Amino acid sequence: MYLTKKEESMLNQEYGVAISKCMKLLVRLGDIYGADRMVKVSCSQASGVSYKSIGDPGIEFLKGFVEEGAKVVIPTFLNPAGMDLDNWKVFHISEKFANKQKEIIDSFRKMGVIITCSCTPYLFGNLPRFMEHLAWSESSAVAFANSVIGARTNREGGPSALASAITGRTPNYGLHLKENRKPNFLVNINTKIKTNSDFGALGYFIGKTVKNKIPYFSGIKQCSTDNLKSLGAAMAASGAVALFHVKNKTPEFMLHKKDIHDLEIIEFSENDLKKSYEELSDCSDPDLIVVGCPHASISEIQTLNKKLKNKKLKKKFWICTSKSIKAWADRMEYTKNIQKAGAEILCDTCMVVSPLEEFDFKCIGTNSGKAAKYIPGFCKKKVFFGNIDSLIKKGLKK
Ligand code: F3S
Repeated sequence: MYLTKKEESMLNQEYGVAISKCMKLLVRLGDIYGADRMVKVSCSQASGVSYKSIGDPGIEFLKGFVEEGAKVVIPTFLNPAGMDLDNWKVFHISEKFANKQKEIIDSFRKMGVIITCSCTPYLFGNLPRFMEHLAWSESSAVAFANSVIGARTNREGGPSALASAITGRTPNYGLHLKENRKPNFLVNINTKIKTNSDFGALGYFIGKTVKNKIPYFSGIKQCSTDNLKSLGAAMAASGAVALFHVKNKTPEFMLHKKDIHDLEIIEFSENDLKKSYEELSDCSDPDLIVVGCPHASISEIQTLNKKLKNKKLKKKFWICTSKSIKAWADRMEYTKNIQKAGAEILCDTCMVVSPLEEFDFKCIGTNSGKAAKYIPGFCKKKVFFGNIDSLIKKGLKK
């Protein structure tokens, strides 16, 4: 793989040990995947933040990296942590877990990573441009950046995203190349897809079918940005989809109009939608309802504010979002109203990366296809998967 003079020097420790280690990792990746050269990236999104995911070895690795002088050179944003960094006591996180989590956050802070702790950095302060090269690692954010924005990123692992943040580069392969962004399947939608949970169920079904390939959707009449974030997240969870196209809705669909004629076709019917809902549920009476996977936008919180007006929830009801979005919700008094109805807004974390398995809940209600797919494995809990209205209805019952 071709390296510039500067990249050679970075590799040969002329810029320090940390940069050299990162270059070695990226060159190795580039060699494996046949990259011709490095490409400069404008920003990075680092995952592997929750203590639940990286444990003590992760803490030691990050501390060692800081000691070796690791510093990010491009804007780098952080994925959700295992707890609300300010309100962890309210959510019954143990002192031990909290202290470990703080050590992780400290290391990232010392490296210059912005402590956003969110999987939706594009909703506040980090909106990439069309065709901009990135090194993002959270799978739903990757799907969103590639598909809805038309930026270019592979589905990075935590270490490779951090290596790119520290060198400002990533190997030029995969979705950085135009020829690899062509669709592999045409998905015909033959039923109405309306809510975030419908899009989650569709994403769950298609991700399972296409695995890590690129679907092109036809027949989606209407969709919001929130719907597309649900769709991408679910496909990235049940499969490993990192890019999708939607006719008339996503920026690159026009480029592939001719490519779709020879593609294998997947039909998605009313029955497939129903079946996906059924497959994602294995309980019906949630004792905890959690929404905001991917992290809730201000419009989703605004909707909840409206739907929860004059209601009194009997079940625990959490809404996951970023600190930035919550600040807007506070200012609009949505937080106050939502709390009055008995729900809570949780920042910096989510139902999957928090230590939910340690809590006494048995059945988790969610409207997220991604969360419904992951909760049984990551949190050892049963799931009720439904739309927001059905969740609120269940939340109102004793
Ligand atoms: Fe985000 Fe957690 Fe879902 S990281 S996409 S809210 S599983």
